[in-house]
Formats: sequence, structure tokens, C-alpha cells
Amino acid sequence: MKSVFTFLVLLLVAVVQAVSSTGSRLLVILNDVDEKNDYSKFFGDLTKRGFEITYETPKSESLSLIHLGERTYDHVLVLPTKVKALGPNLTPNILVDFMNAHGNILVALSSETTISSSITALLAELDIAVPAERTGLVVDHFNYDAASASEKHDVLLLAPPAPLRPGVQTYFTPAETISELIAFPRGVGHTLGQGPLLNPVLRAPSTAYSYDPKEQADGVDPQDLFAVGAQLGLVSTMQSRNSARFAIVGSAEMLTDKWFDAKVKKIGDKEVATWNREFAKRVSGWTFQEIGVLRVNSIEHRLNEAGATETNPKGYRIKNDVTYTISLSEYSWNKWTPYLVPDGDELQLEFTMLSPFHRLNLSRAKITGQACTYSVAFKLPDQHGIFNFMVNYKRPFLTNIEEKNTVPVRHMAHNEWVRPFDIPAAWPWIGGIGATVVGFVAFSALFLYSKPTDLKGETKKKQ
Ligand SMILES: *[C@@H]1O[C@H](CO)[C@@H](O)[C@H](O)[C@H]1NC(C)=O
Repeated sequence: MKSVFTFLVLLLVAVVQAVSSTGSRLLVILNDVDEKNDYSKFFGDLTKRGFEITYETPKSESLSLIHLGERTYDHVLVLPTKVKALGPNLTPNILVDFMNAHGNILVALSSETTISSSITALLAELDIAVPAERTGLVVDHFNYDAASASEKHDVLLLAPPAPLRPGVQTYFTPAETISELIAFPRGVGHTLGQGPLLNPVLRAPSTAYSYDPKEQADGVDPQDLFAVGAQLGLVSTMQSRNSARFAIVGSAEMLTDKWFDAKVKKIGDKEVATWNREFAKRVSGWTFQEIGVLRVNSIEHRLNEAGATETNPKGYRIKNDVTYTISLSEYSWNKWTPYLVPDGDELQLEFTMLSPFHRLNLSRAKITGQACTYSVAFKLPDQHGIFNFMVNYKRPFLTNIEEKNTVPVRHMAHNEWVRPFDIPAAWPWIGGIGATVVGFVAFSALFLYSKPTDLKGETKKKQ
């Protein structure tokens, strides 16, 4: 009976832990707590995935993201609010501190409310620009929903995003081509800076543009356009160096129940369902560290010689043969799985002292239930000093990996050099020494044992 009980408790623990790799406390900021009913499916999906959601308005007094230097929440979702600034508990500084403490933030905007100044300041901090008036509307006169926006063309219909480039994880791309479309109703666009930490997920089609419906109602001067076409980001992500994640969704409305279930229709096409629910799941899952999270399980380097059993020895000698192994796992929704480097990408090891002496591709060695090991064998350079085994793997949408193991590499001890007898090129010289020695001994022997000639007799003869 007891063991059954223990088993049940363990099972429960396992189920409860089936959630993000960094924690389950999610704070949702919205204008009015009752508004959460509009997003009941989105929040229902998050709850089912194990998040404990707290709903707050920016006005709430008790709201605090960081208490005594510790995060009080693991993730924050900011929905559009009507307030001008988010108040003293959610200043841009606090939000940045929250990210520095490995907290994740998802921000959703709407063209119907002015973006609060705290959010614009945070976006500016991350090098994401929104229209200067803090409001805007993305329209497209070619890719709109004919069923609901035949007049205003402000509900964009977009195919699910394609991967950023070959060799990049495809978290936001469906496994096979689907007919569903993403509806992007009444959203605000943004533009991304040049930083390598920013990655777009969904961009506007080439015919879309953003304008201010209040100021530019009668017509838009091309000079005053905020951004057009693919320049205009609709959903984008940013991952900081500490792997805290940030995502911006231009249209909060696309997360509502209405658009999860809606049927949409491009002009001239037939009616299709929306892909919003799955897309929202993937974007929130990525932001809240449920997918694309990498973990280094272990690192091992060893001498590659018969009889060498020590792993991670304190040091090596120049020109040693060495094997380096690293084991990686990837978190996928609720479990750790082996991380497989995608085709067209390489996991590389650098052997560096200031600059790399070697940059080698690691190859897949072994796949077990939760981890995949990568390894490479190589010869250390003919240079002594303090070296590092470095794996620096930073890819879009994946946790940054930067692993450094320092080892000293010593020079040859005087008795470790190869003996000259083992070097064929030295044999003539060794032979020369031998010949000289033999010649000297033979000459000495000859000299010592040969009888001197009789000098007396000769002198006599001469006389
Ligand atoms: C590593 O892989 C890349 C791409 O596959 C290749 O171009 C490169 O030559 C490889 N490097 C080494 C040292 O084999």
C-alpha cells in the first residue's frame, strides 16, 4: 500500500513538473482582470501546460517582480493596458532587472490602445522600435481577411513563417505545409535593430504598411511611413546573453478565443481555419523556456593513449592526442531529449590561447534517452601555455552555450624526446661516430702492437 502511495506521489510530482524548464510562476498584466475571459483558451492552454497564472493590473499595489533580490515570478505576460505608464512597480528598469535575473517577458500590443511608455522604453532598450506616436495600424490591401475586414483591410492573413535560414531550428514552422493561416488583427508593427540577439518570427508581407489611423486618416505621405513590407516585424524575439527571453507580439487580439476559432478567407480563396492557437502555443512556449532550451550535461576530455584512464586531467603535454566529449540535452515541452544539431549547422570545439589554434567540428558520438554526446579527437598544437577547450554555440532561438575548460599544456621533458636511434635520418651520423671510434681503436691497436723497425742496423749501414 505504502509503495503504491509513494508511486502516486512521485507520479503527481512528475506531472506537476511537466512545465517550463525554468519555473511555472506566470504573471499576466492586463487592463482589467475580467479581460482574461477573452483569452480563456490561451490561458487554459498555459494552465494545462503547468503554469500557475496570477492576474494583475498595473495599478495593483502588491505587484512586485523582484523581492529581496529574488524573482517573485518566472515569466511575465504584458497585455495591452490603457494606462500611460505601467507605474512604479513595472518601470523599464525593473523589467530589465527581471530579465537579468533570468525572467522571461512576452509583450503583446494592440493598435486600439496607445503603447504604454514603460513598454516603449523597454523596447528601445532592446533595440526594437515602434512608431513614434506609440500607436499604429498594420494594413495590407492584398492579404486581408475578406470575411471580417473587407473595408479596413486591417486583419492580415499570413502563411505560417518559414525558417529564418537553413540550419536553424524550426520552432515556429509547421512540420508539413498546411492550409491554415495566421490571422493578425489590428496589430502594431515594429522594426528590429541590427543586434544579433534579435530574431524575427513573423514579418509583414511585402504589400503591408503601417500608418497612424488618427493622424493619417485621409492618406499617407510615403515620407511619413513608419515601415513597409518585410521591414515591418509583427512577431519578434530577443534572447539576451544570459538566455532570458523576450518576445513581442504586435497583435494581442490574435491570442483571443475569437481568433483561435475563427474562419478566415483571403479574397478569391476558400475559407480556412486559423493557425493562431498553435502559433500562440509555440511563441509562448519558446518565450517561457519550454522549447529551444539547451543543457550541457557533462564535458569530458582525456588523453587518447593506451593505458590513460584519467578523465579531465590537470594538464597535457604538447602534441598529446586528446579526445573531447560534450553531452547536450534539449528541453522539449515537458522533457529532456537528446539535442541533435540540425543539418547545415555544426557544433564546434575551439582549442584556444587568446586565439584558436584549432577549430574542429564535433561529431555525433552516442545518443541515449535524454542526451546526445558529441566528440572529436585531435593532436594538441606544438605550443605550450594555458589553453582552453571552448564550445561557443549561439544560435537563433536556442539557449546560448559558452563552455570553457582551462588546461595547462607543458613542453617536453628532456627525457621525453625521441632517442636518435629511433630516427633513421640520424643513422649516417651515428654510423660516422661508430666508424671514428672503430677506426681510432684499430689504429691505436695497430700502432701499439706493430714492431718498430731496427733503427740501429740502418745507422750502422750508413756509417
Ligand atoms: C566543419 O564543417 C564545415 C561545414 O560542414 C566545413 O566547411 C568545414 O570544413 C569543417 N571543418 C573541419 C575542420 O573539418
